[in-house]
Amino acid sequence: MPVEFLGIAATNDGSETTPRSGGAFDKEYTLRLGRAHEDHGWDRVLFAYGSGSPDPAPAAAYLASHLDRLQILLAHRPNVSYPTFAAKTFATLDRISDGRLTVHFITGGNDHEQGREGDTLTKDERYARTREYIRIVKKIWTTHEPFDHEGEHYRFHDFVSDVFPVQQPRPNVSFGGSSEAAYGAGGAEADIYCLWGEPLAKTAEQIERVKAAAKAAGRTDVPRIQVAFRPIIAPTEELAWEKAHRTVGAIRERRESGLVRHHRGQAPENAGSQRLLAIAEAGERYDRALWTPTAAATGGAGNSNALVGTPETVAQALLDYYDLGVDILSARGYDLLGDAIDFGRHVIPIVREEVAKRDAEREAKRAGEHAAGTDRTLTAVNG
Ligand SMILES: Cc1cc2nc3c(=O)[nH]c(=O)nc-3n(C[C@H](O)[C@H](O)[C@H](O)COP(=O)(O)O)c2cc1C
Repeated sequence: MPVEFLGIAATNDGSETTPRSGGAFDKEYTLRLGRAHEDHGWDRVLFAYGSGSPDPAPAAAYLASHLDRLQILLAHRPNVSYPTFAAKTFATLDRISDGRLTVHFITGGNDHEQGREGDTLTKDERYARTREYIRIVKKIWTTHEPFDHEGEHYRFHDFVSDVFPVQQPRPNVSFGGSSEAAYGAGGAEADIYCLWGEPLAKTAEQIERVKAAAKAAGRTDVPRIQVAFRPIIAPTEELAWEKAHRTVGAIRERRESGLVRHHRGQAPENAGSQRLLAIAEAGERYDRALWTPTAAATGGAGNSNALVGTPETVAQALLDYYDLGVDILSARGYDLLGDAIDFGRHVIPIVREEVAKRDAEREAKRAGEHAAGTDRTLTAVNG
């Protein structure tokens, strides 16, 4: 299977290491960053969701209407809109983008952040609501007759949408989370299951959990797996490690200065971040190039484990994840624009070439086995 690359869509140039230079929605930067991804070999970009951040749906529509190929992964929190409304927004966006939309459903890992927009459910309750929400959205995307819904969280009558997605039967559903409730909901409903980058062994464990949850939900297929990293690359190993230490220094400095808004209280509530902190506590370096101090310095804030080294080293590290069964590689630097260009120029081509080689070898092996099987059958019939 060809591998896919997910980058980041951002509406301004701020990051964990750098304060933003202007407002939260910088129209020119949004387009420049999207175009850099499209021009440098990326498949898709993620528009994230935060309570106070610019609304990602219109920002995604703006980007899609200015670019031809780049696909959109739109993060959406069920608590902020009714599913009938959201399903129409997504279908309209899939029309605007000529079928380039995937929706990433976010359950929300932090009660305080959820409360900022009026969500009072507990995390496990939120996962049950997300599951119901995804089912409704899928049904609206694919149902041409009015229908009623009587669920635990939503009740409505006689609804039918007049706008349908370009993608048939429907756009893909993406999902993230590392708690039991997350595996259950995402295993049942997701086409793409997203994980934050962890050591290979821990990632393998999570892939198994997702597969088991899909099976338990009665599925015969499994979600495609996506894993996210923060690559730090440079022309030599030595320069890459210097850059990594500079990066973590800048993250710490910015957090200590109090300029970065983080959630009240110290310990993260979401299992994904707790896992990242436990992994960082147990060691700084794992496998070929995984480095955890960037995760420790941000309190395990989302995609935060780095892959450090030359483009060749980082590409080989990513290929280790491909060999583990990962289909989509997600990457984001700390200088969003410059790093998207560098990674696209120097890392993506190596990974794509190696994946093509591995796939061709696998195909040749399969064809050989098939031919041998046919030979044996013929010998048996003739003999
Ligand atoms: C790739 C990816 C992207 C995510 N994007 C967002 C986001 O934009 N906004 C957000 O609030 N949470 C985001 N999340 C968080 C999860 O959707 C989820 O709410 C949280 O991790 C649940 O916690 P759990 O690990 O305890 O199940 C993202 C997670 C992943 C894996």
